[in-house]
Amino acid sequence: MDLPNDPQAAIARQAAALQPALVAIRRDLHAHPELAFTETRTAGVVAAALTRLGIPNVTGVGVTGVVGTIQGGAPGPTVAIRADMDALPIAEQTGLPFASTYAGLMHACGHDIHTTTLIGVAEVLQSLAPQLRGTVKLIFQPAEETAGGAAAMMAEGVLDGVDMAVGFHNHPDMPVGAFAYVRGASLASVDFFEITVHGKSGHAAYPHNTVDPVLAAATLVVQLQTIVSREVGPTRPAVVTVGAIQGGNAHNIIPDSVVLKGTVRTLHPQVRDQVEAAVRRLCAGIAEGMRVRVDVQYHRLCPPLVNNDGMVDRGIASIRAQMGEVVTEGEPSLGGEDFAMMTEAVPGLQIRIGSGAPGREDKLHNSDYQPDERCLAQGVQALSRIALDLLS
Ligand code: NI
Repeated sequence: MDLPNDPQAAIARQAAALQPALVAIRRDLHAHPELAFTETRTAGVVAAALTRLGIPNVTGVGVTGVVGTIQGGAPGPTVAIRADMDALPIAEQTGLPFASTYAGLMHACGHDIHTTTLIGVAEVLQSLAPQLRGTVKLIFQPAEETAGGAAAMMAEGVLDGVDMAVGFHNHPDMPVGAFAYVRGASLASVDFFEITVHGKSGHAAYPHNTVDPVLAAATLVVQLQTIVSREVGPTRPAVVTVGAIQGGNAHNIIPDSVVLKGTVRTLHPQVRDQVEAAVRRLCAGIAEGMRVRVDVQYHRLCPPLVNNDGMVDRGIASIRAQMGEVVTEGEPSLGGEDFAMMTEAVPGLQIRIGSGAPGREDKLHNSDYQPDERCLAQGVQALSRIALDLLS
């Protein structure tokens, strides 16, 4: 018999009992992946599951998002737990019996795992509702991959009245059963730019009669790399990547223009401002120095994901109390995700859930990604315990 003030065994047993049903839900979602803001079937599966559990829910939040609410037995703060639901435009190569049935689409980032995990958490926390002092808001978010979903849901007030936000991501580079946290900035700000270098076209044999945008663009690519190496402090991580160069189509013609596309990643808001200013300054300098005209379109997608220190401490304590010494400190990454917007608005914590299967070296966004499904019950245990402890 479980002691009423020790929920460890109850949560562990319930999560284990849920595992087969969660695997079935996950495989159904996996077979039917949907891109950003088109997650209507997925949202339907979520809403049906919440309704079956007696959890009031609202669909169509931020286009295709779903929000469920679990009211605790006593008043207290509101904890949001957020899962993302969208898939990627990748043609699946796993050969699994439950592989994607939609051509060219795949859950290659494990958001099917996330959605399913939060459904499991909903079931556990609903059964614990009388013990909760406060409210749990279950946020099923669309469009993480295009970084529009969090903003869309927040614009419709999804964080109104929320005091703390908890997020999570599966990590195939950690074995299933392992968890990790990062103090402070865990993921990077994500910005992208499109720079158009306008010159004056002409015959390649008479460059003096033209203004060459190819040489100016090539010079700019090199100069952009001096931002990280010569301007940003070496202890503050930043990345400037030019991922596309488009211009010209013949060996004997100097073209009119060249387009550069790239991304900027940083872990500090000040560095983010510094890099943007430097990109604009170098573009202006190239224009002046090489007689071209340079148009800069610079878009800020999402801020760094910053974990709240107090939430990190409480999250570690909860996972240890529930599952033992399974949680370690992870390294910040210059990847990004839009849960960062929620951690900017309220104290937040994102935990990393090991999903690596024995003998495999899986990577996210890979057409052969096969997470170890045992991470479902693992995540349910950890997240349920964290929410329970935050509302005790
Ligand atoms: Ni992801």
